[in-house]
Amino acid sequence: MDKKQVRVGMIGYKFMGKAHSNAYRNLPFFFDSKVVPIMQSISGRDEAGVKEAAQKMGWASYETDWRELIERDDIDVIDIVTPNSTHFEMAIAAAEAGKHVICEKPLAMNVDQAKRMYNAVQKNGVIHMICHNYRFAPAVQFAKKLIEQGRIGKIRHIRGTYLQDAYLDPKSPITWRARKEITGSGVLGDIGSHSLDLARFLVGEFQEVVGMTETFVNQRPVETNSHIEQVENMQMEDVTVEDSAVIIARFENGAIGTFEATKLAGGNLNGNRFEINGEKGSIRWDLENLNNLEVYFADDEPGLRGYRTINCTETYHPYANVYWPVGHIIGYEHTFINLLSDFMNGIYEGISPKPNFEDGLRNQIVLDSIEKSVLQKSWVSVSENISRTIGRDLAISKN
Ligand SMILES: NC(=O)c1ccc[n+]([C@@H]2O[C@H](COP(=O)([O-])OP(=O)(O)OC[C@H]3O[C@@H](n4cnc5c(N)ncnc54)[C@H](O)[C@@H]3O)[C@@H](O)[C@H]2O)c1
Repeated sequence: MDKKQVRVGMIGYKFMGKAHSNAYRNLPFFFDSKVVPIMQSISGRDEAGVKEAAQKMGWASYETDWRELIERDDIDVIDIVTPNSTHFEMAIAAAEAGKHVICEKPLAMNVDQAKRMYNAVQKNGVIHMICHNYRFAPAVQFAKKLIEQGRIGKIRHIRGTYLQDAYLDPKSPITWRARKEITGSGVLGDIGSHSLDLARFLVGEFQEVVGMTETFVNQRPVETNSHIEQVENMQMEDVTVEDSAVIIARFENGAIGTFEATKLAGGNLNGNRFEINGEKGSIRWDLENLNNLEVYFADDEPGLRGYRTINCTETYHPYANVYWPVGHIIGYEHTFINLLSDFMNGIYEGISPKPNFEDGLRNQIVLDSIEKSVLQKSWVSVSENISRTIGRDLAISKN
């Protein structure tokens, strides 16, 4: 049987461009999905760079203007892997051109943009998704299953930390991630947004938050091509976003949580971790050991109580059976393959899989509430922000 094909156009081609390209290439090899992605074209501003990237990553053609990519009749899906400030204009243009849209996180620079992006995909009836890929580690999906089965009981606590040390060296050059006009927020939107998404996925909706942020390294060198110039005549630029954040939260279901996001946690390369405690047990996960889920059940036999480690590579574990025999582990890149497999199925079924732009908008509202709380030095109600923003918009989109 011939499979339906969807022709993808991707905007951007660096870190996430590589991760998404790899996922499109390998998806049909592992998944027997009803829709197969065709790597039709990529877009980038620098012709030599985008041409080389297209050849290396296996794209059939390239464009140097993303608007022309979106206008092409032979493109069905637009995949946005560019910095945060560009998501809004690109996603709305794609939706208005009738293309399905997949966008990297955070969805936008602020709630207003995110809301308009959500309205655009709804109004134009296109399928949409946001790339909170960590939901798609089999161990995280299995954690969700255990929670839904009531295996750890009512949840009381979540501790979510996303710790990196990439900014520890004050001489490491400034990037777009430290420029507010391009990134929106610092570690909050960049890595904290993943922890907040995992919390929404596993625990539930946020009710209220209080946050504290800090910028410990206020200036960084501007990168030049010359090493000598770099060392001897270092031009410095202001860092305009936070490099560290701490959050306390209460959830609608009564659970409470703490979160920390920083790029100054020496010794942590990509420490995306959470621990959830319920009335009957606990669950914890660490991205740097992503195949394993640690689980504790309070009713275990006395003397044998303690965390056990489940290697989530068996057929019971979501997404695991398409890969290798048990115990033959998978990696970071497979989270993107799993996510894109859901996206392809969503296109076939005409349903936007989660996490979609609504989740992106809800995540943005949590981020916005934290930023407001930091400014006001007080608790901010996420529930009120949600009903003010989404409640009204859902009513609009129904009419
Ligand atoms: N899901 C994840 O785990 C994850 C990880 C890293 C980054 N991200 C997100 O992915 C997005 C891209 O991040 P990245 O790390 O790949 O960045 P990057 O700097 O590695 O790549 C950005 C790409 O966008 C292009 N670009 C920049 N400005 C542009 C513009 N104005 N118009 C067109 N193209 C432009 C660059 O040329 C480059 O190809 C960001 O939104 C980021 O938050 C997500």
